[in-house]
Amino acid sequence: MIPSLRELDMRHILHPTSPLADHYKQGPLVTMERGEGIYLYDTDGKRYIDGLSSLWNVNVGHGRAELAEAAAEQMKKLAFSHAFNRFTHEPMIRLAAKLADLMPGDLNAVMFTSGGSEANDTAFKIVRHYFKMIGQPERYKIISRKRAYHGVTMGAASATGIPSFRQMGGPLAEGFFLAETPYRYRCTACAGACDGGCSIDSMREIIEREGPQTVAAVIVEPVQGAGGVIVPPEGYLRRVRELCDEYGLLMIADEVITGFGRTGRWFGVMHDDVVPDVLTFAKGVTSGYVPLGGVAIREPIRRRLAESTPDGYVLPHGFTYSGHPTCCAVALKNIEIIERERLVDNAERMGFRLLEGLRELQERSPLVGNVMGKGLIASVELVRDKESKAPFEASFKAAARLFQLAMERGLITRAIMIDGTDIVALCPPLVTNEKQIGEILEVLERSLAELEKQAASA
Ligand SMILES: Cc1ncc(COP(=O)(O)O)c(C=O)c1O
Repeated sequence: MIPSLRELDMRHILHPTSPLADHYKQGPLVTMERGEGIYLYDTDGKRYIDGLSSLWNVNVGHGRAELAEAAAEQMKKLAFSHAFNRFTHEPMIRLAAKLADLMPGDLNAVMFTSGGSEANDTAFKIVRHYFKMIGQPERYKIISRKRAYHGVTMGAASATGIPSFRQMGGPLAEGFFLAETPYRYRCTACAGACDGGCSIDSMREIIEREGPQTVAAVIVEPVQGAGGVIVPPEGYLRRVRELCDEYGLLMIADEVITGFGRTGRWFGVMHDDVVPDVLTFAKGVTSGYVPLGGVAIREPIRRRLAESTPDGYVLPHGFTYSGHPTCCAVALKNIEIIERERLVDNAERMGFRLLEGLRELQERSPLVGNVMGKGLIASVELVRDKESKAPFEASFKAAARLFQLAMERGLITRAIMIDGTDIVALCPPLVTNEKQIGEILEVLERSLAELEKQAASA
């Protein structure tokens, strides 16, 4: 007998960020076959709304032949050439120049990576290297926040504030510190709906405790994604910027999810008119059609770094696929599509519609404690008691149940269960239209009604 795809998967795949024992016993959850716009189709022909843009990355939607053609053309011409030792090629140069145009302020020079974790690790190493080169070698500490997700490589995991990702594969790297985060109506410090001040205060405490001269940088996601889609209070990013300036630290914005139109601006920091010193990106730069990420630094930092570097010194950092020609060509075409179809504006308009619909759902459903969103990234927090906002018992796994109920009804979301909170995240492609927002809300409402029944009988 020829083994089925399912059997082969069970035998041979170690799935990332997946329940290992469930896979070992039951196999894969779903086998996807093709995609078109905001929809994915499995091997049984069942249609799903890709309500998370797969992994928050398929910004322009599925099935774009133009991107496949851009990749094919580039592969035929120059499939690969590296960027080490000052080798270069046109797609990488044109993409870096385009990014410098799109990014805020004087963010001007880019080192490419294959994804977001590598981008953040690269950012930490560049920041530490920068301070060494300018004569402040004792500045190496990095401050991130609780519930932050910066990736899974050793540096990125050390900056990540989600307990499970910190525990796996430890001990973590040295010199990373977690500050509080302004989480919804119960901030991780004061348990209330604070204005973000607790988070800034806790960053200041870490800086003062560790010694300001030893701290290199603060890293923040403009909207925390995997930590529960946490939109900070207005002005919060500006306060992080001011804190960094006060102590001479560099501000790193992790725009891996929020970049390329997701929040209704090209980059999330633009909502607060902030220019970070370092900006990391991945995901939406190619809408996931090929892997690419990168780190951008501001011009004065690049200049000072270059001027402090002795002639002949080779920067000992970079990946084989830093600036992969095919990936850069696809990124350029992807950005062209985002511009041509005005998808950043669409994300803002559809984001308002989505949030409005979620607020109506919050009124109607007894299980929705809070909703949040910015552009086309949003979340629904599930609670056992709406008045007191008391969470569900962890063993009930409310978010995982809602994820499953929505899957059965043809909507893919993300269940986020951290520190006793149950959150269902939404992040549909930037091409989503008003009718499709309605479809998402409708499936969500039907799934919530079923969850209510399950909660009543549990
Ligand atoms: C904000 C943020 N940073 C970094 C990463 C890591 O990116 P990658 O999975 O491409 O390594 C992610 C991935 O979800 C992310 O959401």
